[in-house]
Amino acid sequence: MSSSGVEGRDQNGSSSFSIASENEHRQKTKREGMGNEGDMRTGEEEDEECYSPPERQIVVGICSMTKKSQSKPMTQIMERMCKFQYITVIIFPEEVILNEPVENWPLCDCLISFHSKGTNERFPLDKAVEYAKLRNPLLINDLKMQYYIQDRREVYRILQQEGIDLPRYAVLTRDPDRPEECNLVEGEDQVEVNGEVFPKPFVEKPVCAEDHNVYIYYPTSAGGGSQRLFRKIGSRSSVYSPESSVRKSGSYIYEEFMPTDGTDVKVYTVGPDYAHAEARKSPALDGKVERDSEGKEIRYPVMLSAMEKLVARKVCMAFKQTVCGFDFLRANGHSYVCDVNGFSFVKNSMKYYDDCAKVLGNMVMRELAPQFHIPWSIPLEAEDIPIVPTTSGTMMELRCVIAIIRHGDRTPKQKMKMEVRHPLFFELFEKYGGYKSGKLKLKKPKQLQEVLDIARLLLAELGQHTDCEIEEKKGKLEQLKTVLEM
Ligand SMILES: Nc1ncnc2c1ncn2[C@@H]1O[C@H](COP(=O)(O)OP(=O)(O)OP(=O)(O)O)[C@@H](O)[C@H]1O
Ligand SMILES: [Mg+2]
Repeated sequence: MSSSGVEGRDQNGSSSFSIASENEHRQKTKREGMGNEGDMRTGEEEDEECYSPPERQIVVGICSMTKKSQSKPMTQIMERMCKFQYITVIIFPEEVILNEPVENWPLCDCLISFHSKGTNERFPLDKAVEYAKLRNPLLINDLKMQYYIQDRREVYRILQQEGIDLPRYAVLTRDPDRPEECNLVEGEDQVEVNGEVFPKPFVEKPVCAEDHNVYIYYPTSAGGGSQRLFRKIGSRSSVYSPESSVRKSGSYIYEEFMPTDGTDVKVYTVGPDYAHAEARKSPALDGKVERDSEGKEIRYPVMLSAMEKLVARKVCMAFKQTVCGFDFLRANGHSYVCDVNGFSFVKNSMKYYDDCAKVLGNMVMRELAPQFHIPWSIPLEAEDIPIVPTTSGTMMELRCVIAIIRHGDRTPKQKMKMEVRHPLFFELFEKYGGYKSGKLKLKKPKQLQEVLDIARLLLAELGQHTDCEIEEKKGKLEQLKTVLEM
Protein backbone atom coordinates (compact mmCIF):
# COMPACT_ATOMS: atom_id res chain seq x y z
CA MET A 1 0.00 0.00 0.00
CA SER A 2 1.48 3.29 -0.98
CA SER A 3 0.66 6.61 -2.46
CA SER A 4 0.80 7.06 -6.17
CA GLY A 5 0.50 9.79 -8.73
CA VAL A 6 2.03 13.17 -9.20
CA GLU A 7 1.36 16.76 -8.41
CA GLY A 8 -0.89 18.56 -10.84
CA ARG A 9 1.65 21.23 -11.67
CA ASP A 10 3.55 18.68 -13.75
CA GLN A 11 0.51 17.93 -15.84
CA ASN A 12 0.26 19.86 -19.05
CA GLY A 13 -3.39 20.39 -19.75
CA SER A 14 -5.37 21.98 -22.51
CA SER A 15 -6.41 25.61 -22.82
CA SER A 16 -9.63 26.88 -21.32
CA PHE A 17 -13.07 25.89 -22.57
CA SER A 18 -15.78 28.26 -23.53
CA ILE A 19 -18.93 26.27 -23.12
CA ALA A 20 -21.49 28.89 -22.15
CA SER A 21 -23.42 26.93 -19.58
CA GLU A 22 -20.22 25.72 -17.96
CA ASN A 23 -18.87 29.24 -17.82
CA GLU A 24 -22.09 30.42 -16.25
CA HIS A 25 -21.76 27.74 -13.66
CA ARG A 26 -18.20 28.75 -12.97
CA GLN A 27 -18.92 32.47 -12.99
CA LYS A 28 -21.75 31.93 -10.56
CA THR A 29 -19.30 30.21 -8.33
CA LYS A 30 -16.91 33.10 -8.67
CA ARG A 31 -19.60 35.68 -8.06
CA GLU A 32 -20.38 33.94 -4.86
CA GLY A 33 -16.77 34.49 -4.07
CA MET A 34 -16.08 30.84 -3.67
CA GLY A 35 -13.45 30.11 -6.23
CA ASN A 36 -10.18 31.30 -7.59
CA GLU A 37 -7.82 29.52 -9.89
CA GLY A 38 -5.08 27.60 -8.18
CA ASP A 39 -5.87 29.33 -4.95
CA MET A 40 -7.80 28.64 -1.81
CA ARG A 41 -10.43 31.11 -0.84
CA THR A 42 -13.12 31.51 1.71
CA GLY A 43 -16.52 32.96 0.91
CA GLU A 44 -15.68 36.33 2.35
CA GLU A 45 -12.66 36.99 0.17
CA GLU A 46 -14.30 37.89 -3.11
CA ASP A 47 -12.30 40.13 -5.41
CA GLU A 48 -14.04 40.43 -8.74
CA GLU A 49 -11.51 42.95 -10.08
CA CYS A 50 -8.77 40.34 -10.12
CA TYR A 51 -10.97 37.75 -11.74
CA SER A 52 -9.89 36.58 -15.17
CA PRO A 53 -11.65 33.64 -16.78
CA PRO A 54 -9.78 30.56 -15.69
CA GLU A 55 -9.23 27.37 -17.60
CA ARG A 56 -11.96 24.88 -16.99
CA GLN A 57 -11.59 24.28 -13.27
CA ILE A 58 -12.84 21.43 -11.13
CA VAL A 59 -14.13 22.94 -7.90
CA VAL A 60 -13.48 20.98 -4.72
CA GLY A 61 -15.67 22.22 -1.88
CA ILE A 62 -14.74 21.86 1.78
CA CYS A 63 -17.87 21.73 3.88
CA SER A 64 -17.16 21.27 7.56
CA MET A 65 -17.01 23.27 10.78
CA THR A 66 -14.49 26.14 10.73
CA LYS A 67 -12.30 24.44 13.32
CA LYS A 68 -11.78 21.61 10.84
CA SER A 69 -11.75 23.50 7.54
CA GLN A 70 -9.24 26.04 8.90
CA SER A 71 -7.13 23.43 10.68
CA LYS A 72 -3.44 23.16 9.88
CA PRO A 73 -3.58 19.75 8.15
CA MET A 74 -6.58 20.84 6.04
CA THR A 75 -4.83 24.06 5.00
CA GLN A 76 -1.60 22.24 4.21
CA ILE A 77 -3.33 19.54 2.17
CA MET A 78 -5.65 21.88 0.29
CA GLU A 79 -2.76 24.21 -0.59
CA ARG A 80 -1.08 21.21 -2.16
CA MET A 81 -4.26 20.17 -3.97
CA CYS A 82 -4.53 23.64 -5.50
CA LYS A 83 -1.26 22.93 -7.28
CA PHE A 84 -3.16 20.61 -9.58
CA GLN A 85 -3.64 22.76 -12.64
CA TYR A 86 -7.36 22.12 -12.95
CA ILE A 87 -8.34 22.04 -9.28
CA THR A 88 -9.71 24.95 -7.31
CA VAL A 89 -10.55 24.53 -3.65
CA ILE A 90 -13.26 26.53 -1.97
CA ILE A 91 -14.23 26.55 1.66
CA PHE A 92 -17.86 26.79 2.67
CA PRO A 93 -18.09 29.39 5.44
CA GLU A 94 -19.46 27.95 8.68
CA GLU A 95 -21.98 30.76 8.89
CA VAL A 96 -23.37 29.72 5.46
CA ILE A 97 -23.43 26.04 6.44
CA LEU A 98 -25.29 26.74 9.65
CA ASN A 99 -27.64 29.53 8.60
CA GLU A 100 -28.24 29.38 4.85
CA PRO A 101 -30.51 26.93 3.08
CA VAL A 102 -28.55 24.46 0.96
CA GLU A 103 -29.80 26.11 -2.24
CA ASN A 104 -27.59 29.08 -1.30
CA TRP A 105 -24.49 27.04 -0.58
CA PRO A 106 -21.61 27.43 -3.03
CA LEU A 107 -21.50 25.14 -6.04
CA CYS A 108 -18.84 22.50 -6.33
CA ASP A 109 -18.00 19.45 -8.41
CA CYS A 110 -16.43 17.44 -5.63
CA LEU A 111 -17.34 17.66 -1.97
CA ILE A 112 -15.17 17.01 1.04
CA SER A 113 -17.67 17.17 3.84
CA PHE A 114 -17.75 15.59 7.23
CA HIS A 115 -19.54 15.70 10.50
CA SER A 116 -17.95 16.98 13.71
CA LYS A 117 -19.21 18.22 17.00
CA GLY A 118 -18.12 21.81 17.45
CA THR A 119 -17.78 23.45 20.85
CA ASN A 120 -21.13 25.17 20.57
CA GLU A 121 -22.74 23.82 17.48
CA ARG A 122 -22.57 20.52 15.68
CA PHE A 123 -22.19 20.13 11.94
CA PRO A 124 -25.63 19.89 10.26
CA LEU A 125 -25.21 16.52 8.56
CA ASP A 126 -28.85 16.50 7.39
CA LYS A 127 -28.21 19.69 5.43
CA ALA A 128 -25.04 18.30 3.90
CA VAL A 129 -26.98 15.20 2.77
CA GLU A 130 -29.64 17.49 1.31
CA TYR A 131 -26.97 19.55 -0.49
CA ALA A 132 -25.36 16.43 -1.95
CA LYS A 133 -28.77 15.31 -3.20
CA LEU A 134 -29.39 18.70 -4.78
CA ARG A 135 -26.01 19.17 -6.49
CA ASN A 136 -24.77 15.60 -6.79
CA PRO A 137 -21.04 16.32 -6.41
CA LEU A 138 -18.40 13.61 -6.25
CA LEU A 139 -18.31 12.69 -2.55
CA ILE A 140 -14.89 12.05 -1.07
CA ASN A 141 -16.49 10.80 2.15
CA ASP A 142 -20.01 9.43 1.93
CA LEU A 143 -22.37 11.49 4.05
CA LYS A 144 -25.11 9.03 5.00
CA MET A 145 -22.56 6.58 6.40
CA GLN A 146 -21.50 9.34 8.80
CA TYR A 147 -24.70 8.76 10.76
CA TYR A 148 -23.51 5.21 11.47
CA ILE A 149 -20.03 6.37 12.44
CA GLN A 150 -21.60 8.36 15.28
CA ASP A 151 -22.92 5.17 16.88
CA ARG A 152 -20.45 2.57 18.14
CA ARG A 153 -23.12 -0.16 17.82
CA GLU A 154 -23.43 0.52 14.11
CA VAL A 155 -19.66 0.76 13.68
CA TYR A 156 -19.19 -2.65 15.31
CA ARG A 157 -22.09 -4.12 13.35
CA ILE A 158 -20.51 -3.00 10.07
CA LEU A 159 -17.06 -4.25 11.11
CA GLN A 160 -18.54 -7.62 12.01
CA GLN A 161 -20.48 -7.75 8.75
CA GLU A 162 -17.22 -7.18 6.85
CA GLY A 163 -15.50 -10.00 8.71
CA ILE A 164 -13.04 -7.62 10.37
CA ASP A 165 -11.56 -8.75 13.71
CA LEU A 166 -12.84 -6.74 16.66
CA PRO A 167 -12.95 -7.37 20.41
CA ARG A 168 -15.73 -9.71 21.60
CA TYR A 169 -18.53 -7.39 22.70
CA ALA A 170 -22.14 -7.06 23.80
CA VAL A 171 -24.50 -4.10 23.69
CA LEU A 172 -26.40 -2.98 26.76
CA THR A 173 -29.23 -0.70 25.64
CA ARG A 174 -31.06 1.14 28.40
CA ASP A 175 -34.40 2.85 28.17
CA PRO A 176 -33.74 6.24 29.85
CA ASP A 177 -37.19 6.04 31.49
CA ARG A 178 -36.62 2.56 32.95
CA PRO A 179 -32.85 2.31 33.46
CA GLU A 180 -33.09 -0.74 35.79
CA GLU A 181 -34.86 -2.82 33.18
CA CYS A 182 -31.85 -4.06 31.27
CA ASN A 183 -29.99 -7.28 30.65
CA LEU A 184 -27.15 -6.67 33.07
CA VAL A 185 -26.05 -8.98 35.87
CA GLU A 186 -23.12 -7.54 37.77
CA GLY A 187 -20.67 -9.61 39.79
CA GLU A 188 -17.57 -8.50 41.65
CA ASP A 189 -15.23 -9.60 38.89
CA GLN A 190 -17.47 -9.78 35.86
CA VAL A 191 -20.57 -8.52 34.11
CA GLU A 192 -23.11 -10.56 32.23
CA VAL A 193 -24.67 -8.64 29.34
CA ASN A 194 -27.54 -10.29 27.45
CA GLY A 195 -26.32 -13.57 28.93
CA GLU A 196 -22.74 -13.08 27.75
CA VAL A 197 -20.07 -13.00 30.43
CA PHE A 198 -17.21 -10.48 30.45
CA PRO A 199 -14.66 -11.16 33.18
CA LYS A 200 -12.56 -8.20 34.32
CA PRO A 201 -10.62 -6.53 32.85
CA PHE A 202 -13.31 -5.36 30.43
CA VAL A 203 -14.04 -2.09 28.65
CA GLU A 204 -17.24 -0.05 28.87
CA LYS A 205 -17.89 2.38 26.00
CA PRO A 206 -20.81 4.78 25.61
CA VAL A 207 -22.80 3.85 22.49
CA CYS A 208 -22.44 7.41 21.26
CA ALA A 209 -19.10 7.51 19.46
CA GLU A 210 -18.57 11.15 20.33
CA ASP A 211 -18.70 10.35 24.02
CA HIS A 212 -15.10 9.59 24.91
CA ASN A 213 -15.79 8.57 28.49
CA VAL A 214 -14.56 5.01 28.05
CA TYR A 215 -14.03 3.11 31.33
CA ILE A 216 -11.82 0.09 31.91
CA TYR A 217 -12.57 -2.09 34.95
CA TYR A 218 -9.73 -3.90 36.73
CA PRO A 219 -10.07 -7.32 38.36
CA THR A 220 -9.91 -7.60 42.16
CA SER A 221 -6.61 -9.49 41.75
CA ALA A 222 -5.13 -6.29 40.27
CA GLY A 223 -6.57 -4.12 43.04
CA GLY A 224 -10.00 -3.42 41.45
CA GLY A 225 -11.27 0.02 40.57
CA SER A 226 -11.38 1.45 37.06
CA GLN A 227 -9.56 3.71 34.66
CA ARG A 228 -11.70 6.54 33.33
CA LEU A 229 -10.67 7.80 29.92
CA PHE A 230 -11.72 11.16 28.53
CA ARG A 231 -10.97 13.56 25.69
CA LYS A 232 -7.42 14.84 26.36
CA ILE A 233 -7.18 17.78 28.69
CA GLY A 234 -3.64 19.14 28.63
CA SER A 235 -1.33 16.37 29.73
CA ARG A 236 -4.05 13.96 30.86
CA SER A 237 -6.18 11.44 28.99
CA SER A 238 -7.46 9.26 31.85
CA VAL A 239 -7.63 8.98 35.60
CA TYR A 240 -7.83 6.07 38.02
CA SER A 241 -11.00 5.67 40.03
CA PRO A 242 -11.54 3.33 43.01
CA GLU A 243 -15.07 2.70 41.65
CA SER A 244 -15.42 -0.94 40.66
CA SER A 245 -19.06 -1.12 39.69
CA VAL A 246 -20.28 -0.22 36.21
CA ARG A 247 -22.36 2.80 35.26
CA LYS A 248 -26.07 2.44 35.89
CA SER A 249 -27.48 4.92 33.40
CA GLY A 250 -26.92 5.21 29.69
CA SER A 251 -26.31 2.61 27.00
CA TYR A 252 -22.92 0.98 26.63
CA ILE A 253 -20.87 -1.51 24.72
CA TYR A 254 -19.05 -4.00 26.95
CA GLU A 255 -16.05 -5.66 25.41
CA GLU A 256 -13.11 -7.80 26.35
CA PHE A 257 -9.92 -5.92 27.21
CA MET A 258 -7.23 -6.60 24.61
CA PRO A 259 -3.73 -6.78 26.10
CA THR A 260 -1.52 -4.63 23.86
CA ASP A 261 2.06 -3.49 24.42
CA GLY A 262 0.62 -0.27 25.84
CA THR A 263 0.23 1.52 22.52
CA ASP A 264 -2.68 2.13 20.16
CA VAL A 265 -2.10 1.95 16.42
CA LYS A 266 -3.79 4.88 14.70
CA VAL A 267 -4.46 4.36 11.01
CA TYR A 268 -5.35 7.07 8.50
CA THR A 269 -6.52 5.96 5.07
CA VAL A 270 -6.65 8.08 1.94
CA GLY A 271 -8.63 5.80 -0.33
CA PRO A 272 -8.45 2.01 -0.25
CA ASP A 273 -4.81 1.84 -1.38
CA TYR A 274 -3.14 4.29 0.98
CA ALA A 275 -2.83 4.19 4.74
CA HIS A 276 -0.56 5.99 7.16
CA ALA A 277 -0.13 4.45 10.60
CA GLU A 278 1.48 5.60 13.82
CA ALA A 279 1.38 4.40 17.41
CA ARG A 280 0.65 6.40 20.54
CA LYS A 281 0.75 5.52 24.18
CA SER A 282 -2.62 4.09 25.18
CA PRO A 283 -4.67 6.47 27.35
CA ALA A 284 -5.66 3.37 29.30
CA LEU A 285 -2.20 3.07 30.89
CA ASP A 286 -1.76 5.83 33.47
CA GLY A 287 -3.44 8.72 31.69
CA LYS A 288 -0.30 10.82 31.41
CA VAL A 289 0.03 12.05 27.80
CA GLU A 290 3.58 11.73 26.41
CA ARG A 291 4.63 15.01 24.82
CA ASP A 292 7.86 16.18 23.17
CA SER A 293 9.67 19.45 23.90
CA GLU A 294 7.33 21.27 21.51
CA GLY A 295 4.32 19.90 23.36
CA LYS A 296 3.30 17.54 20.52
CA GLU A 297 2.07 14.11 21.49
CA ILE A 298 4.81 11.52 20.93
CA ARG A 299 4.16 9.13 18.07
CA TYR A 300 5.96 5.91 17.27
CA PRO A 301 6.53 4.76 13.71
CA VAL A 302 4.47 1.80 12.60
CA MET A 303 4.64 -0.46 9.57
CA LEU A 304 1.33 -2.09 8.83
CA SER A 305 1.38 -5.78 8.03
CA ALA A 306 -0.19 -7.02 4.80
CA MET A 307 -3.21 -8.20 6.81
CA GLU A 308 -3.58 -4.81 8.46
CA LYS A 309 -3.38 -3.06 5.09
CA LEU A 310 -6.15 -5.29 3.87
CA VAL A 311 -8.24 -4.36 6.92
CA ALA A 312 -7.52 -0.66 6.27
CA ARG A 313 -8.83 -1.13 2.76
CA LYS A 314 -11.93 -2.91 4.06
CA VAL A 315 -12.65 -0.21 6.65
CA CYS A 316 -12.23 2.57 4.10
CA MET A 317 -14.56 0.85 1.67
CA ALA A 318 -17.14 -0.47 4.13
CA PHE A 319 -17.68 2.98 5.63
CA LYS A 320 -17.29 4.68 2.21
CA GLN A 321 -14.88 7.17 3.76
CA THR A 322 -11.89 7.93 1.54
CA VAL A 323 -10.26 9.86 4.36
CA CYS A 324 -10.79 7.65 7.37
CA GLY A 325 -9.14 7.30 10.76
CA PHE A 326 -9.44 4.17 12.86
CA ASP A 327 -7.67 2.38 15.70
CA PHE A 328 -6.01 -1.02 15.83
CA LEU A 329 -5.25 -2.89 19.03
CA ARG A 330 -2.37 -5.26 18.41
CA ALA A 331 -2.89 -8.10 20.87
CA ASN A 332 -2.35 -11.86 21.00
CA GLY A 333 -0.69 -11.80 17.58
CA HIS A 334 -3.74 -10.22 15.93
CA SER A 335 -4.94 -6.73 15.13
CA TYR A 336 -8.41 -5.78 16.28
CA VAL A 337 -10.27 -2.67 15.16
CA CYS A 338 -11.74 -0.99 18.25
CA ASP A 339 -12.77 2.40 16.90
CA VAL A 340 -13.62 3.97 13.52
CA ASN A 341 -13.63 7.75 13.52
CA GLY A 342 -14.33 8.65 9.88
CA PHE A 343 -12.78 11.77 8.38
CA SER A 344 -9.43 12.44 10.04
CA PHE A 345 -6.08 13.77 8.84
CA VAL A 346 -2.64 12.93 10.23
CA LYS A 347 -1.18 15.92 12.02
CA ASN A 348 2.33 17.31 11.54
CA SER A 349 3.57 15.02 8.80
CA MET A 350 4.82 16.71 5.62
CA LYS A 351 5.06 13.32 3.91
CA TYR A 352 1.40 12.63 4.69
CA TYR A 353 0.32 16.11 3.54
CA ASP A 354 2.13 15.55 0.23
CA ASP A 355 0.82 12.03 -0.24
CA CYS A 356 -2.72 12.85 0.82
CA ALA A 357 -2.99 15.82 -1.58
CA LYS A 358 -1.62 13.72 -4.42
CA VAL A 359 -3.94 10.81 -3.80
CA LEU A 360 -6.99 13.06 -3.43
CA GLY A 361 -6.03 15.26 -6.39
CA ASN A 362 -5.45 12.27 -8.63
CA MET A 363 -8.72 10.74 -7.47
CA VAL A 364 -10.63 13.93 -8.32
CA MET A 365 -8.94 14.20 -11.70
CA ARG A 366 -9.46 10.55 -12.52
CA GLU A 367 -13.16 10.73 -11.64
CA LEU A 368 -14.02 14.13 -13.08
CA ALA A 369 -11.54 14.94 -15.88
CA PRO A 370 -13.42 12.90 -18.52
CA GLN A 371 -16.74 14.67 -18.00
CA PHE A 372 -14.93 18.03 -18.02
CA HIS A 373 -13.10 17.06 -21.21
CA ILE A 374 -9.78 17.63 -19.48
CA PRO A 375 -7.05 15.38 -20.85
CA TRP A 376 -5.68 13.56 -17.86
CA SER A 377 -3.59 10.56 -17.11
CA ILE A 378 -1.68 9.90 -13.95
CA PRO A 379 1.91 10.72 -14.91
CA LEU A 380 4.79 8.62 -13.66
CA GLU A 381 6.66 9.86 -10.63
CA ALA A 382 10.46 9.98 -10.71
CA GLU A 383 10.48 7.09 -8.25
CA ASP A 384 8.16 5.11 -10.52
CA ILE A 385 10.50 5.22 -13.51
CA PRO A 386 12.27 1.87 -13.47
CA ILE A 387 15.85 3.03 -14.07
CA VAL A 388 18.47 1.44 -11.83
CA PRO A 389 22.22 1.81 -11.55
CA THR A 390 24.08 -1.38 -12.35
CA THR A 391 27.75 -2.33 -12.67
CA SER A 392 27.50 -1.66 -16.42
CA GLY A 393 25.76 1.71 -16.17
CA THR A 394 22.19 2.88 -15.69
CA MET A 395 19.66 0.49 -17.01
CA MET A 396 15.95 -0.01 -17.25
CA GLU A 397 14.92 -2.44 -14.59
CA LEU A 398 12.89 -5.44 -15.61
CA ARG A 399 9.74 -5.12 -13.50
CA CYS A 400 7.80 -8.06 -14.80
CA VAL A 401 7.43 -10.59 -17.54
CA ILE A 402 4.01 -11.28 -18.94
CA ALA A 403 3.71 -14.63 -20.66
CA ILE A 404 0.83 -16.17 -22.53
CA ILE A 405 1.34 -19.92 -22.48
CA ARG A 406 -0.54 -22.91 -23.89
CA HIS A 407 0.29 -26.57 -23.74
CA GLY A 408 2.06 -28.17 -26.70
CA ASP A 409 0.10 -31.42 -26.77
CA ARG A 410 -1.95 -32.07 -29.83
CA THR A 411 -3.52 -35.10 -31.47
CA PRO A 412 -1.17 -36.58 -34.12
CA LYS A 413 -2.46 -36.16 -37.64
CA GLN A 414 -3.90 -39.34 -39.05
CA LYS A 415 -2.73 -38.95 -42.63
CA MET A 416 -1.28 -41.19 -45.25
CA LYS A 417 0.23 -40.24 -48.56
CA MET A 418 0.22 -42.71 -51.38
CA GLU A 419 0.99 -42.33 -55.03
CA VAL A 420 -1.39 -44.26 -57.27
CA ARG A 421 -0.99 -45.23 -60.89
CA HIS A 422 -3.47 -48.01 -61.38
CA PRO A 423 -6.36 -47.27 -63.81
CA LEU A 424 -8.88 -48.49 -61.20
CA PHE A 425 -8.04 -45.49 -59.04
CA PHE A 426 -8.40 -43.16 -62.02
CA GLU A 427 -11.76 -44.69 -62.87
CA LEU A 428 -12.89 -44.09 -59.34
CA PHE A 429 -11.56 -40.52 -59.54
CA GLU A 430 -13.59 -39.94 -62.68
CA LYS A 431 -16.68 -41.73 -61.38
CA TYR A 432 -17.03 -39.34 -58.46
CA GLY A 433 -16.33 -36.19 -60.50
CA GLY A 434 -12.69 -35.67 -59.51
CA TYR A 435 -11.81 -34.19 -62.88
CA LYS A 436 -14.26 -31.35 -62.40
CA SER A 437 -12.35 -29.65 -59.60
CA GLY A 438 -9.08 -31.51 -59.83
CA LYS A 439 -9.58 -33.05 -56.40
CA LEU A 440 -11.85 -35.54 -54.73
CA LYS A 441 -13.08 -36.27 -51.23
CA LEU A 442 -14.60 -39.65 -50.52
CA LYS A 443 -16.43 -40.06 -47.22
CA LYS A 444 -19.42 -42.32 -47.77
CA PRO A 445 -19.11 -45.96 -46.68
CA LYS A 446 -19.96 -47.12 -50.18
CA GLN A 447 -17.18 -45.03 -51.70
CA LEU A 448 -14.67 -46.17 -49.11
CA GLN A 449 -15.71 -49.76 -49.75
CA GLU A 450 -14.80 -49.22 -53.38
CA VAL A 451 -11.35 -47.95 -52.39
CA LEU A 452 -10.94 -51.01 -50.16
CA ASP A 453 -11.99 -53.33 -52.98
CA ILE A 454 -9.32 -51.84 -55.26
CA ALA A 455 -6.68 -52.17 -52.52
CA ARG A 456 -7.58 -55.82 -51.96
CA LEU A 457 -7.56 -56.56 -55.69
CA LEU A 458 -4.18 -54.91 -56.23
CA LEU A 459 -2.69 -56.70 -53.25
CA ALA A 460 -3.86 -60.01 -54.65
CA GLU A 461 -2.28 -59.13 -58.00
CA LEU A 462 0.96 -58.08 -56.38
CA GLY A 463 1.11 -61.28 -54.32
CA GLN A 464 3.79 -62.95 -56.39
CA HIS A 465 6.11 -59.99 -57.12
CA THR A 466 9.12 -59.37 -54.92
CA ASP A 467 11.10 -56.37 -56.29
CA CYS A 468 11.60 -53.54 -53.85
CA GLU A 469 9.57 -50.81 -55.57
CA ILE A 470 6.60 -53.12 -55.59
CA GLU A 471 7.32 -54.08 -51.99
CA GLU A 472 6.98 -50.42 -51.00
CA LYS A 473 3.69 -50.07 -52.88
CA LYS A 474 2.48 -53.25 -51.25
CA GLY A 475 3.22 -51.83 -47.82
CA LYS A 476 1.15 -48.73 -48.52
CA LEU A 477 -1.71 -50.76 -49.97
CA GLU A 478 -1.70 -52.97 -46.91
CA GLN A 479 -1.85 -49.92 -44.67
CA LEU A 480 -4.76 -48.57 -46.69
CA LYS A 481 -6.54 -51.88 -46.47
CA THR A 482 -6.00 -52.20 -42.70
CA VAL A 483 -7.35 -48.72 -42.02
CA LEU A 484 -10.38 -49.19 -44.18
CA GLU A 485 -11.10 -52.59 -42.65
CA MET A 486 -11.13 -51.16 -39.08
N1 LIG B 1 -11.09 -3.63 23.88
C1 LIG B 1 -10.11 -2.87 24.31
N2 LIG B 1 -9.05 -3.41 24.91
C2 LIG B 1 -8.03 -2.66 25.37
N3 LIG B 1 -8.00 -1.32 25.27
C3 LIG B 1 -9.03 -0.71 24.67
C4 LIG B 1 -10.13 -1.45 24.15
N4 LIG B 1 -10.98 -0.57 23.58
C5 LIG B 1 -10.43 0.63 23.75
N5 LIG B 1 -9.28 0.57 24.40
C6 LIG B 1 -8.40 1.68 24.76
O1 LIG B 1 -9.22 2.81 24.99
C7 LIG B 1 -8.92 3.85 24.08
C8 LIG B 1 -10.19 4.57 23.71
O2 LIG B 1 -11.07 3.69 23.06
P1 LIG B 1 -11.77 4.08 21.71
O3 LIG B 1 -10.74 4.39 20.72
O4 LIG B 1 -12.73 3.02 21.36
O5 LIG B 1 -12.58 5.36 22.15
P2 LIG B 1 -12.69 6.82 21.61
O6 LIG B 1 -12.94 7.68 22.75
O7 LIG B 1 -13.71 6.81 20.54
O8 LIG B 1 -11.30 7.13 20.95
P3 LIG B 1 -10.91 8.29 19.92
O9 LIG B 1 -10.37 9.38 20.73
O10 LIG B 1 -9.89 7.61 19.07
O11 LIG B 1 -12.14 8.63 19.14
C9 LIG B 1 -8.22 3.18 22.93
O12 LIG B 1 -7.38 4.06 22.28
C10 LIG B 1 -7.47 2.05 23.61
O13 LIG B 1 -6.26 2.52 24.17
MG1 LIG C 1 -10.03 5.73 19.45
